[in-house]
Amino acid sequence: MLTLGIETSCDETSLSVTQGKKVLSNVVSSSVHLHKKYGGVVPEIASRFHVEYIIEVLSKALKESHKNLKDARLVAVTNGPGLVGALLTGISLAKAISYCLGLPLIGVNHILAHLYSAFLNEDDKPGFPFIGLVVSGGHTALFYCEDVGRQKLLGQTQDDAVGEAYDKVAKILNLGYPGGPIIERVAKRSKGKNKIAFPKSYLGKDSLDFSFSGIKTAVLYYVRNHITPPGCDISHPGDVSGLISDICHAFQEAALDVLVEKACLAAKIKKVSRIVIGGGVAANSRLRDKLIDAAKFLGIKVYFPKMEYCLDNAAMVGVLGEELYRRAHRSNLYLTAQPNLEVV
Ligand code: KG4
Ligand code: ZN
Repeated sequence: MLTLGIETSCDETSLSVTQGKKVLSNVVSSSVHLHKKYGGVVPEIASRFHVEYIIEVLSKALKESHKNLKDARLVAVTNGPGLVGALLTGISLAKAISYCLGLPLIGVNHILAHLYSAFLNEDDKPGFPFIGLVVSGGHTALFYCEDVGRQKLLGQTQDDAVGEAYDKVAKILNLGYPGGPIIERVAKRSKGKNKIAFPKSYLGKDSLDFSFSGIKTAVLYYVRNHITPPGCDISHPGDVSGLISDICHAFQEAALDVLVEKACLAAKIKKVSRIVIGGGVAANSRLRDKLIDAAKFLGIKVYFPKMEYCLDNAAMVGVLGEELYRRAHRSNLYLTAQPNLEVV
């Protein structure tokens, strides 16, 4: 079955052609460069970019897969959560194709698409049950997964998502956007000269919820007290660059420790021996190393998506859409954008 996947929930315009779990093409065009100067995604700019480029991205995805639109048998599109204008662009295209070609349509939850993105691995695909950890710019959540589309939410962030914390800390340090990859890179340069420990928020002994707003505020105060007087920027770090690396390192260690400990705790509580991770922050190599190390002691195997499937992409939407379609999930032309769509 050939599935056309469409993802436009945030700042990536992505279309894919997939067949079962095989990816024939996965084209991603990002407007991230247009948002950099604002330090975060500007919804209106993201929507306009989708409108401008989506047809071009569709043509490229079809060309790379060596297929025609009429070969498709299903259209799968992200219908939430995300930015309403951005989502609507992808949904409008999906509905137009579905209507014109008489193809079935399926709306896919973006968080679930991240959760199951390790299923796109050519080998080393996870089996069930597993603990799923979604770590992105908009979400941080733990799930108990029994089958595709049958998962239970165990805990989630009560405030900022972990990717959001990375982005905000990078903004405080004037390092650029998106913050995750930059902080990871700068943290690697840390020589640990400044002994810094930021608070780790556990929200109670057995809680599987998260909180990352406290650590972000702790970084803000640390920077105010040690680098700049309030109101100054740090565009020219000069001899404080060593301190900035140490701050990035301390922030990253504290944030990732909480993710790793809670994912392992969830696996212990649910007595499962697999952890599957997805979302933009899953691209972080320090997180990968830490989680693999911690899980090994507990006899737990960890599954990560390939790097290209960690960040927003249509292939994860197409593959999950087809799996759900095979399990009798259906949408119709009343499908619309749900910016706050939850996982059920
Ligand atoms: O999944 P994603 O592409 O979009 C959302 O659904 O939010 O994730 C984007 C987030 C951003 O916050 C970005 O800073 C973070 O993922 N990110 C990373 C890394 N690469 C991207 N965070 C930590 N380390 C990375 N290497
Ligand atoms: Zn995402």
